[in-house]
Amino acid sequence: MVKLIWENKKDFLEKFSKLKTTYRDYYKRIDLGFPNSEETSEQIWKNLLFWGDNFEVAYYLLNNFEETIDLIYIDPPFFSGSNYSINISEGNSRYDSVAYFDHWNKDIDSYLTMLYERILLFRKLLSNTGLIFLHLDWHVCHYIKVLLDEIFGKKHFINEIIWYYYNKYSAGKKMLPRAHDNILVYSKTSDFTFNEERIPRNKPIKQLKREMVNGVLKNAKDENGHVIYRTVTDKKLDDVWKIPCLQPASKEWTGFPTQKHQNLLERIIKIGSNKGDLVADFFCGSGTTLIVADKLNRRWIGCDSSEYSIYLTRKRLSNYRKSENQDMFKNSYIEAFTHLDEKKAKLLSSGFFEKDLKIKRK
Ligand SMILES: C[S@@+](CC[C@H](N)C(=O)[O-])C[C@H]1O[C@@H](n2cnc3c(N)ncnc32)[C@H](O)[C@@H]1O
Repeated sequence: MVKLIWENKKDFLEKFSKLKTTYRDYYKRIDLGFPNSEETSEQIWKNLLFWGDNFEVAYYLLNNFEETIDLIYIDPPFFSGSNYSINISEGNSRYDSVAYFDHWNKDIDSYLTMLYERILLFRKLLSNTGLIFLHLDWHVCHYIKVLLDEIFGKKHFINEIIWYYYNKYSAGKKMLPRAHDNILVYSKTSDFTFNEERIPRNKPIKQLKREMVNGVLKNAKDENGHVIYRTVTDKKLDDVWKIPCLQPASKEWTGFPTQKHQNLLERIIKIGSNKGDLVADFFCGSGTTLIVADKLNRRWIGCDSSEYSIYLTRKRLSNYRKSENQDMFKNSYIEAFTHLDEKKAKLLSSGFFEKDLKIKRK
């Protein structure tokens, strides 16, 4: 079997056994002021939002969620070598900050170790009928494909989805413009949820009507023996998805760098889960997956280490819920967790999450 080897690839199981047992009860509920949170009772499902490192969060979740998550979508840093800055205005003051870091000093070993260890944990959380969608681009996608073959087994590779974004400017001169991301899809077993998605055709087409006769697919005929045509307006979704990159003019735009389009997540969640299923995004950024999961009546778990991510996710969820009929969410409250270090405690006590910040991508 082909395996990806790098200098710091450690025996994960050894590291796992030495993990701080404190991770097991590390995370404490914090009040992010989501509507209805005080009305919840123990029996009601609560969606979970974690502010922290997803390695620790995933390990913590093994307490109660091993093999229970139906769909995991992750959109980690891509090893792009950039840090993603934002510009913040609060009243009359303006300042720059970093939303998240993707600068590894060209040390691909550290990046691979980061992702490898986390994917191993995420696999443990994935249900036996679950799917994982891992979103990357040309920087490391081909390395991670080999890694996923190792972790999930080559036979559990389902698809490489090409997200073709035709509206992004690419400045490269001696190359073709790079205009796609790659989303690798793996299952845990051979019995997994996979719902067919159909999309509208550009133009309706005439197609021969087919029917199954004694197990064989044949052209259907009318009583005079003539083949029958039908008009088809949609088609099966294939693995090349033409969806625009989100533009600042869009109503969806939060200002968070690398925010994904809700249409992308809608397809993923519809394909890989059913109503009531549990969806997780451990690099949730501005909360796109969580919003779409909520809209599609899935339960969800989200996590991010950036305070700007948690700020925007909270704001988006609150706004969305306020604008909707609350009844829809009677079984779907939100609880937020973190373990408080000095910086987080300071932000919380400053009322950071309730502030009215304007965040713009720099
Ligand atoms: C590409 S962005 C995700 C964008 C998101 N899909 C959206 O639509 O807004 C990657 C996110 O991963 C987060 N992140 C990076 N390392 C992390 C870690 N170890 N634990 C939790 N979050 C992490 C960053 O803070 C950033 O918000």
